[in-house]
Amino acid sequence: MTTFENRRMLLTSRPEWTLKHSDFTVEKTGVPTPGAGQVVVKVRWLAFDPAMRGWMNDGPSYAPPVALGELMRGHGVGEVVDSAAPELPVGTQVHGNLGWQDFALCRAGAGTIGGLEHVHGQAGALPTVRKVPDGIAPTAVLGVLGTTGLTAYFGMLELGAPRPGDVVVVSGAAGATGSVAGQLARLAGARTIGIAGGPAKTRWLVETARFHDAVDYKSEDVSARLAELAPGGVNLFYDNVAGPVLEAGIRNIAQRGTVVLCGGISSGYSDEATVVGPSNLSTITVRSACMKGFIVTDFRDRFEEAADRLTGWIRSGDIVWADDIVEGTVEDAVDVLNRLFDGKNFGKQLLQLAGPAA
Ligand SMILES: NC(=O)c1ccc[n+]([C@@H]2O[C@H](COP(=O)([O-])OP(=O)(O)OC[C@H]3O[C@@H](n4cnc5c(N)ncnc54)[C@H](OP(=O)(O)O)[C@@H]3O)[C@@H](O)[C@H]2O)c1
Repeated sequence: MTTFENRRMLLTSRPEWTLKHSDFTVEKTGVPTPGAGQVVVKVRWLAFDPAMRGWMNDGPSYAPPVALGELMRGHGVGEVVDSAAPELPVGTQVHGNLGWQDFALCRAGAGTIGGLEHVHGQAGALPTVRKVPDGIAPTAVLGVLGTTGLTAYFGMLELGAPRPGDVVVVSGAAGATGSVAGQLARLAGARTIGIAGGPAKTRWLVETARFHDAVDYKSEDVSARLAELAPGGVNLFYDNVAGPVLEAGIRNIAQRGTVVLCGGISSGYSDEATVVGPSNLSTITVRSACMKGFIVTDFRDRFEEAADRLTGWIRSGDIVWADDIVEGTVEDAVDVLNRLFDGKNFGKQLLQLAGPAA
């Protein structure tokens, strides 16, 4: 063991509805000395995705549940503080499935963009970390070049495939996935409408993220506004939310339109999740429309390609994003994840862990 003192957030009970601190036990341990090809990483930023709440439920899903007694998995960026891997010397910034803890013993991986191992877990193996690409903000690998940016890229460009002149509507549009998805549709030549909660978010969508229009679902009738803004119908509805917002999108779908089901955060992703609707699926039939779902890791063989193109758009200023950084300790991860379900986050939700490297 080295002298690093680690705090690890172990999931010790299955949460009901909203996540609580009592669902976790904080384990205090040392950190093993790295063996050949391994490094110790001081975790600096942790990223939060709504799906993480779903991984805490028992039962079958696209990813294995976090087992009771297991460290909560999650994507993070940190700094190498002890190294037995020449390609990742002390001081290198790396990212990977670091988990909700202060320090992580990891295996050194090649390249810069990974397979999003935190989504599926690594079944007892040490997490693999990769170098943060040079010349880009380190937190970018957790958002715009991480799960959410890659999701937006494949969901929008592969499943949605907008054409110039299409009307594309994105729900959850001021969030990490939705904001990138809408900007990609604009770059494809579409007219973009974002749906988000509250005037600050809708203003940001139009003024900063360059959506053509924005709808505030908290104060406006979404279906009526979409009908006004897109009288010819919505060619592509990219849904992050489900429930009544999805119903409004379907009500306005154009002939031969497409609905991409990226996520359904309004369900809360709790075990007892009860999401309302959609009750108007027959509209899909009569408009000869279609609905498609996907998980980002379906495209894991193409992550490098997507990251290269997204990096180009970031550097040219064609894509902007917001990081929402809360400063705290690993124990704050519970409250930080809950922010996504309360709509408190503005862009990619991150937790910045304070503290010296050792
Ligand atoms: N398919 C995939 O592989 C994949 C991968 C990653 C993410 N996703 C999905 O993408 C979606 C967005 O994820 P993200 O990480 O980018 O989070 P995010 O959009 O940055 O944050 C979640 C946002 O959802 C909105 N929201 C929360 N509760 C809502 C409700 N009841 N009704 C309407 N909006 C609500 C809030 O924005 P407002 O303030 O606007 O309400 C909140 O800020 C989620 O559904 C997630 O599961 C899918």
